[in-house]
Amino acid sequence: MKIFSGSSNKPLAQKIAKALKIRLSKLEIHIFPDGEKRVRVIDKVVDEDCVVVQSASTFADINYMELFFIVDGLKRSGAKSVTAVIPYLGYQRQDHVFREGEAVSLEVVIKTLEAAGADKVITFDLHSIKIPEFFKIPLIHLSALELFAEKIKKIDGTDAFLVSPDMGGIRRIKVLSEMLNNMPYATIEKNRDLKSGKIEVSEIHGRVGKVAFVVDDMISTGNTIAAGAKLLKKKGADDIFVFATHPVFSGNASKILQESSVKKVFVTDTIEIPEEKQFPKLEVLSVAEIIAKSLSS
Ligand code: R5P
Repeated sequence: MKIFSGSSNKPLAQKIAKALKIRLSKLEIHIFPDGEKRVRVIDKVVDEDCVVVQSASTFADINYMELFFIVDGLKRSGAKSVTAVIPYLGYQRQDHVFREGEAVSLEVVIKTLEAAGADKVITFDLHSIKIPEFFKIPLIHLSALELFAEKIKKIDGTDAFLVSPDMGGIRRIKVLSEMLNNMPYATIEKNRDLKSGKIEVSEIHGRVGKVAFVVDDMISTGNTIAAGAKLLKKKGADDIFVFATHPVFSGNASKILQESSVKKVFVTDTIEIPEEKQFPKLEVLSVAEIIAKSLSS
């Protein structure tokens, strides 16, 4: 097996290679003055099973194009198979037509990836359970919930409960609750204005305990978490811990999270967090071992 890394998350690719006890193979990625990229596979890949690690985080368009070129370069160089490890599958929130006339962007991305020659995709904690239906090639859908369960078990949580910050996350919460001896859970009612993106949290369904573990698939602006935490505090929670797989962290998310009433924010390294977006309440858990295990099975 040969592992290649795109530009979006080299630290994770390196950790995966280390866990598999192989070195990263070489690629040349040249950016022309107008921003176009030229990708060239340096290592020999004839009849090899190849893996490309590329997260489709900000800017998703640029990272996806680079991934398509790497997959194409590998196939043209004789690779037997190409597995695309896309820890964060960008555009996953555009998985259906919300309002008349909209594009289903995620489907376009998947079709292009398949046309470029990808044979398999490995990803993490998808936003909706319907997304796998878009794939014609095999999709391995991994989850960070086991990492979260381990961490939650180590936090002293008398009168603890899980919280889904919106109704859409309830399936995730139920799975985690089972991993934690049926820990009770509550759900926040959240509404988002589709045009402005503004969110409103109104109510909490379920009993509010003292230690809240809020679990989400991703944090983008941080507004969902900040608003949810404010409501949880108002309803009587003392300590609030947040667990989210994908640290998208757009705009002022880091500042919003640091200044919110949450005690700690746990995320994973599906997306590399630049230094300027890190903050004291943040702790990053690695998914590298989970990916390495999946690649070697
Ligand atoms: C939405 O349904 C997702 O599960 C997240 O809750 C959402 O994407 C978070 O967005 P933001 O951080 O911008 O509120």
